[in-house]
Amino acid sequence: MAEPRPRVWVSQPLFDDTVAQLAAYCEVVATPEVTAHDSASIRARLAGMDGALITLNERVGAAEIANAPDLKVVANVGVGYNNLDIAALSAAGIIATNTPDVLTETTADLGFSLLMAAARRIVESDRWLREGNWGQWSFTTMLGADLHGSTLGILGMGRIGQAIARRGHHGFGMKVLYHNRSRLPQDVEQAVGASYVGFDELLAQADHLVLVLPYTAQNHHLIDAAALAKMKPSATLVNIARGGIVDELALANALASGRLASAGLDVYENEPNVRPELLALRNIVLTPHIGSASLATRRAMVQVAVDNLLAGLGLGPAAGQPANAINGELLAGGNARIIDTKKR
Ligand code: DGY
Repeated sequence: MAEPRPRVWVSQPLFDDTVAQLAAYCEVVATPEVTAHDSASIRARLAGMDGALITLNERVGAAEIANAPDLKVVANVGVGYNNLDIAALSAAGIIATNTPDVLTETTADLGFSLLMAAARRIVESDRWLREGNWGQWSFTTMLGADLHGSTLGILGMGRIGQAIARRGHHGFGMKVLYHNRSRLPQDVEQAVGASYVGFDELLAQADHLVLVLPYTAQNHHLIDAAALAKMKPSATLVNIARGGIVDELALANALASGRLASAGLDVYENEPNVRPELLALRNIVLTPHIGSASLATRRAMVQVAVDNLLAGLGLGPAAGQPANAINGELLAGGNARIIDTKKR
């Protein structure tokens, strides 16, 4: 009799042809419709699973894995993993993986798009025109802020931050300043054309500030009323990281009062709900968390996550060596739950 195959749960509809690769090795429990899974439903779905392919919608921590003694790998389709409680997964010997690199340039493109749209008032202009407000060409219609030659501030200087710096420095001739937990090596700073400054100096100097840092409990509401008050009133703020980094009410107040000129947000504290105070503003561009949403990149992310999942389960060409283990120390230390090959 054939041995049972590992079981994997796919939490959302992804690209069927890519996800189908899992079926060569596993029993796949798919989710045919976009679904909001609460904690109890995730816990129920993970019961009996060996692996899971999930998105940023699904929060997985101690409560969700409590009934999943066989779970070995949680493969997140995304680079950010604040939806995962890594300590809880590690304590249970469960490998967590993410999808860095493949989305770097696409996400940097979106960050730059938001910056251009907000600083040059593109969305506001479009709405104004459609509303029939364009009576006559005027010299002072929709005056915005320049990108070229201005100072670009970047908070968080990982791969995406560096890709934004390159665009600003090489493409738009911007002076690029950054702040990060650790300073980049000099040759990397030079290659991306960026200089390190302290947090307060970054806020004070930037004509445009882009947030690209990972979200942690420590940087919750890092950009609050006090931080916004240190920025230039003519500045643009762009957030493509995670919503919780910005105090959205303070941002809405700053934009409404003219304390800050404009903003572009792709991420929100309470997705998919966007504060009415933000929705009411004209000087903000709002996109629905589409940083990595080009077709090619989203496909690549799913492929990387599928590869990670199979490898973490000890299956496929990279068996046992997932390329993007977040808690890789489990593998190195021999503390990861492993497939019992005798069971299969
Ligand atoms: C990520 O990868 O973290 C994005 O926010 C989701 O595409």
